[in-house]
Amino acid sequence: PETPRPRTPIMGWSSWNNYHVNISEEIIQSQADAMAASGMKEAGYSYINIDDGFFGGRNENGGLLAHKKRFPSGMKALADYIHKKGLKAGIYSDAGINTCASYWDQDTIGSGMGLYGHEWSDLNLMLKEWGYDFIKIDWCGGQWLDLDEETRYTLLGKMIRSIRPDVVYNICRWEFPGKWALTTADSWRISGDITNTFESVMHIVDRNADLWKYSGPGHVNDMDMLQVGRGMGYEEDKTHFSMWCMLNSPLLAGNDLTKMSDETLEILTNKELISINQDPLVYQARKLEDHGDLELWTRPLGSTMSGRVAVALLNRSDKNQTMTLELEKVAIIPGEGYVVKDCWEHTTSSGMTKPTLSYEIPPHGVVVLKIDGTNPPFNVFQF
Ligand code: DGJ
Repeated sequence: PETPRPRTPIMGWSSWNNYHVNISEEIIQSQADAMAASGMKEAGYSYINIDDGFFGGRNENGGLLAHKKRFPSGMKALADYIHKKGLKAGIYSDAGINTCASYWDQDTIGSGMGLYGHEWSDLNLMLKEWGYDFIKIDWCGGQWLDLDEETRYTLLGKMIRSIRPDVVYNICRWEFPGKWALTTADSWRISGDITNTFESVMHIVDRNADLWKYSGPGHVNDMDMLQVGRGMGYEEDKTHFSMWCMLNSPLLAGNDLTKMSDETLEILTNKELISINQDPLVYQARKLEDHGDLELWTRPLGSTMSGRVAVALLNRSDKNQTMTLELEKVAIIPGEGYVVKDCWEHTTSSGMTKPTLSYEIPPHGVVVLKIDGTNPPFNVFQF
């Protein structure tokens, strides 16, 4: 049956990359304000996700408390604040007793910050009473208890769906959890935590390359929160964002939205890239060619027979490189004529018939193209 949850990857902001556990209601409010005021909201971003760090112990009945000093108005007031901005609110917990970075009475089973022993009451509190629309469930506590992952995440998923079927559910393991995740959650992590380095970004791309078959409408591989605007170079940030878009990852900005450079905002709100990420076919790009440092990635847009494709030419090396795309390789018959849009240069060339296109690509750079073939004759994506 149809669910009211998004079928395409979610877009938003998450607190972890920039703040770790050092969050507060002022910080979260200011990020929501900035999302609404900066143009991010218009570009499609809607979730403000609170990660680890809001916990403040439990009351004598086991009820979950927010950190009194950092969140004095409470978690419901904060979700209300986010909703008033026309945005959605996200929250975080763990499948076990404690979370990766928040501990409370660790020795007493059931008294930690995680869901263990408090499944029903915590989920009801967070999703129904407080009103959060997204939940990420971490696994440190689950691992420490040696819980069975599939059983645990499936049970929590059933509870979440029964409380509120519109809540987006993210599984936070550090590898692809297994096929069961496709029907259990909306997204799942596939790697350890991202850092603001090009190596980390490429490592996650590599981890995701073979997982394209698990990604589809309503269930996608989560490549982790974005590091755009957090220290990498301009070309590197563009490459990072491009690959997250090409590979259907949720787009959760991780930078301080109140202090973004124009370049960072330009990258995060690139309409052409976002439309690839939000394409209704939700077909994760596949690596068609790998010449060491030079890679060709592609995905169909709209339908596998539409004759429209997105292409990324990726230069992982430290020097300028020329890459040549043979149109036939991506199912475009050049003689039939095609239209090519350069998603970063914002140029469109119509009436093209050349069999190859060449691009000079800077170190760690990428060229992303949308190509519209007028008469789709065959389908390279069939498997
Ligand atoms: C581990 C996760 O992978 C991170 O994304 C973050 O949620 C931290 N735990 C929080 O403790």
